Amino acid sequence: MAVLRVRKYGDPVLRRRALPVGEITGEVRAIIADLVETMYDEVGIGLAAPQAGVSLRLIVVSDEEGRGAEALVNPVIVEQGGQATAEEGCLSIPGIFAPVTRAAWVRVEATSAEGRPLSLRATGLRARVLQHELDHLDGVLFIDRLDPVTRDRIKRRIKKEGLREDAAHHAFAL
Ligand code: NI
Repeated sequence: MAVLRVRKYGDPVLRRRALPVGEITGEVRAIIADLVETMYDEVGIGLAAPQAGVSLRLIVVSDEEGRGAEALVNPVIVEQGGQATAEEGCLSIPGIFAPVTRAAWVRVEATSAEGRPLSLRATGLRARVLQHELDHLDGVLFIDRLDPVTRDRIKRRIKKEGLREDAAHHAFAL
């Protein structure tokens, strides 16, 4: 297992639409293990493969108890509802935090690392993490979901000051 380099805002891989995972081979399982290790190293609670430079539809999220990690292969939101606003950050945009409005709950279907079909319903922070990570698979970053004025202010700030590498370790960085 290895800790992978987390790609930062400006890296084209973060804007690419990731490809579906075909068969869950040993190589895919090795990527999952590396993503889990990288997520823990960064003290994140979720990580999408493109953030580690791997353009595949694959995410890891810490489990509901916060003790282990779960991999979701080819995850899809099949149902969602409600609305909730809360502050988010992203390991790929260190030092930037802003409130994002998303669905309050989601139902996600995916394949497990063992190749089994998964269906999970999530609310609260877990629903937010899933939506944030699934966005990464489509090349969407949380700042894209802000109102245009806030988004432009953040983009100008990044252009002017760059990203604060020391600010990466934040409890809500995804
Ligand atoms: Ni993120």
